[in-house]
Amino acid sequence: MKRIAIVISSENGHTKRIANQMASQLNRLDANVDLVNVASQDGLSASDLAQYDAVIVGCPVYLGDFPQLLMDWTWEHRDQLNMMPSAFFTVSLNAADPRPKARAIDDKVLRNYLVQTDFRPRFVASVGGALEYTRYGFFKRCVLQGVSAAAGGPTDTSRDFDLTNWADVAQFVSAFFEQDMTSDYATVNRLPVAPHPVWPIGLPRVA
Ligand SMILES: Cc1cc2nc3c(=O)[nH]c(=O)nc-3n(C[C@H](O)[C@H](O)[C@H](O)COP(=O)(O)O)c2cc1C
Repeated sequence: MKRIAIVISSENGHTKRIANQMASQLNRLDANVDLVNVASQDGLSASDLAQYDAVIVGCPVYLGDFPQLLMDWTWEHRDQLNMMPSAFFTVSLNAADPRPKARAIDDKVLRNYLVQTDFRPRFVASVGGALEYTRYGFFKRCVLQGVSAAAGGPTDTSRDFDLTNWADVAQFVSAFFEQDMTSDYATVNRLPVAPHPVWPIGLPRVA
């Protein structure tokens, strides 16, 4: 039985919902899955990670970037992550917007993350997020209405919206699980990431 870690950051709970769905699907495929939120449990240590056959990392986009905690965790564990079968999924409103501009923004945010953390997951997915207008305070609701409008999404703040394509999520998990998870896995088939200039201090940053 494969042991799989799903490591996420999720402020409002939707990334966790997606991760739970992934875990249920992997359980049905006879995998043993642990779901860890970097914020609540300080991620997994290197020795914890060594107990797993594969890992999925998932993270929402907030104001055009990923949460620093998850960035830091990925950077710290990059060598180990790059020696395991791995996948990464981002969750955002932009992901549900098919227009070229949104796709370009999505691609840039993703590439920034991959370059800044030096993580080279074998599978990458961009998943539509949630708009939980009725749960946000006034300020957040206004910000999210603006973000959603820019992404061509819903702006009716009297109700919530789930923009996740759950069938795509299931397909992503199947593709990930069906990969060859043998122990001699090496980071072949890495995502091609264009070389970027980096900032000299701290985490490499895309200029
Ligand atoms: C404060 C805030 C900022 C956000 N900024 C963006 C953004 O810049 N681009 C985007 O596409 N989605 C943005 N979103 C949408 C989130 O990515 C989406 O709601 C996601 O489902 C949140 O995941 P979570 O529920 O796991 O926190 C933002 C959401 C919040 C709450």
